[in-house]
Amino acid sequence: MITLGIETSCDDTGLALLEGPRRVLADVLHSQVEVHAPFGGVVPEVASRLHQDAFLPLLMRLLESAQIKDPKKEIDLIAVTVGPGLMGSLLVGVMSAKGLAQAWGVPIVGVNHLEGHIFANVMAHGELVPPFLSLVVSGGHTEIYEVLDYGNYNLLGRTRDDAAGECFDKVAKLLDLPYPGGPIIDKLAQKGESTTFDFPVPLSNSGEVEFSFSGLKTAVLWAIKKLKAKGQAIPVEDICASFQRAVVESLVGKVRLAVKKTGIRKVAISGGVAANSALREALRKERDIEAFIPPVKMCTDNGIMIAAAGYNRYMRGHVDDLRINPNPSMSL
Ligand code: KG4
Ligand code: ZN
Repeated sequence: MITLGIETSCDDTGLALLEGPRRVLADVLHSQVEVHAPFGGVVPEVASRLHQDAFLPLLMRLLESAQIKDPKKEIDLIAVTVGPGLMGSLLVGVMSAKGLAQAWGVPIVGVNHLEGHIFANVMAHGELVPPFLSLVVSGGHTEIYEVLDYGNYNLLGRTRDDAAGECFDKVAKLLDLPYPGGPIIDKLAQKGESTTFDFPVPLSNSGEVEFSFSGLKTAVLWAIKKLKAKGQAIPVEDICASFQRAVVESLVGKVRLAVKKTGIRKVAISGGVAANSALREALRKERDIEAFIPPVKMCTDNGIMIAAAGYNRYMRGHVDDLRINPNPSMSL
């Protein structure tokens, strides 16, 4: 059984072909990051137009690299992200999926993008079976789920305001660093001193599995303003290291709390921020946590995770039809 996975929820066009539950036949990705970089973030209208331009050439490349000559005969299922995400971006994927499903006469299954991120872990770690905890940390999400079974997810907590990745991007902007901020802050932080600035660890004593990152961003802003007012140079590397320390302490602290509350020691991470070297190292060091950390390529948005989640969903008896539509604010 071959599944075509389609991901277009934000600014990455990701397509993949999966045989059975986990054998990747081919995967291709088109990133728009360079186009959005000058704007300091994803411009939704531009994103949807670029998905539209990228989609068909990317599909041709995918079919060619998997040596699929007759997709109508060889592809059995189409899995597509239906939400959450940007409406215009989602529409390109969903409408393309509907067209292909009709042309090829194959079933279509809608996938929640967050379930996709959970399946990125399942793909990366064959031995990972529920129950486990899943920390999804990206530019749009900061959530911890209890994965009781495939298809049975319990949201333990989420951010009250900004997502962790969004905070990396905003702090990078304050420091005149390029978009996306996460990778560059990660790199500069390695040369900085993480205790130079005493940035607060948000909600560290709340006793709840919850996050908040907008106050941390403001704390960085005030530190920069203070230095500028005194005419002092901005120690960018130290600010990056101190800021990153606060984010990582917040994420790891709440993961620890979630483990304590649920008694589940297995923790999987995904989303762009899961690529952060300090977060990966901190989780690996936790003695009471069995951390499942996928390769960086599987942390960010891709078609493989959508194909895997869609295949699993289909096998659990879910199928959609051509009335399927995007839902930008879909919850899991
Ligand atoms: O999952 P993703 O590729 O896209 C979505 O937001 O769905 O995540 C992108 C986010 C950006 O905010 C980016 O700054 C952040 O992930 N990011 C990182 C790192 N690499 C990417 N944040 C911290 N450290 C990194 N190494
Ligand atoms: Zn994502």
